[in-house]
Amino acid sequence: MIDGKKVLFSGMQSTGSLTLGNYLGALKNWVTLSDDYECFYSVVDMHSITVRQDPAELRKKARNLLTLYIAAGLDPKKNCIYYQSHVSGHAELAWILNCFTYMGELNRMTQFKDKSAKHADNINAGLFTYPVLMAADILLYQADVVPVGKDQLQHLELTRDLAQRFNSIYGDVFVVPEPYLGKSGAKIMSLQDPTKKMSKSDENPNASIYLTDDTDTIIRKFKRAVTDSEARIKYCPEQPGISNLIEIYSACSGKSFAEVEAEFEGKGYGDFKLAVGETVADTLKPVQTRFDELCKDKAYIDGIIKENAEKANYYATKTLRKVQKKVGFPERIR
Ligand code: TYM
Repeated sequence: MIDGKKVLFSGMQSTGSLTLGNYLGALKNWVTLSDDYECFYSVVDMHSITVRQDPAELRKKARNLLTLYIAAGLDPKKNCIYYQSHVSGHAELAWILNCFTYMGELNRMTQFKDKSAKHADNINAGLFTYPVLMAADILLYQADVVPVGKDQLQHLELTRDLAQRFNSIYGDVFVVPEPYLGKSGAKIMSLQDPTKKMSKSDENPNASIYLTDDTDTIIRKFKRAVTDSEARIKYCPEQPGISNLIEIYSACSGKSFAEVEAEFEGKGYGDFKLAVGETVADTLKPVQTRFDELCKDKAYIDGIIKENAEKANYYATKTLRKVQKKVGFPERIR
């Protein structure tokens, strides 16, 4: 609890171009939740270097992402928006938690298996212990709730296990966090293969809607989206392509799946795809406009980076000192 409010933590990697999946699965919910919690939203740049990055590009992407958080509607005066690499406590707590994590647990992580298959030439220890750093991110701020997409639930489960394991040895040190999944949009699928999640790292640009895509591109990508020959707009497992479009339309418009089905009853896929494209473009447009404006105000963004890093450091250090004492590190002499 901070000032009588429950704490929320979430983060996003500053690699690749953000997709509609990141927006609907995470960012949009963050904005909705931000009034009810004391929020920490991190640009998790330390996670990004588990895969080789161009340094200048990574720095630029991290800044763009931080700016995008604000453009999407997060007020940086109320929400702590900061770079993970500006708070050394993340790495320090991750080391301690590493000593409480079993190799077998990390071996089971599906994201590790996927990423090591994709980057077979660089299966580094960071990629393997990535979920421990993620646990440290969350536990450092004593977060009660963590809004994520479905793909992160396994990491969240590990975080809870680690918190409980640590607490069972040392007493109540960590809050055990709960995941938060939005009503819709928790798993947006690829537009070209609706059995795969929409991903920043997909090589086919038509598979994903990027947050920077303009209206024409968005509509064109939806027109080309892979569907089926059933010719009915119904949310069901046999129609993964159409179900994905219904999910996207529902998440953007706030309508339930049943309402969407009723609205397009008897209409063709062409009409539906166009409506989804237009709704998505309308949803993203204000974010894009605000992003362009914010990019011009360097001093404003710099101020936020500085102020919020200090705030994050304050809370992170509080937890870290407690943990260091529990595991037996010597007290600091002031
Ligand atoms: P990342 O950067 O891959 O994704 C950021 C957020 O977007 C969600 N997401 C999706 N949601 C719905 N449909 C999709 N197709 C889709 N693709 C991505 C993710 O679930 C995530 O919520 N390890 C994390 C970042 C992280 C983190 C944390 C998150 C590091 N530390 C602590 C929460 C708490 C990651 O790589 O997310």
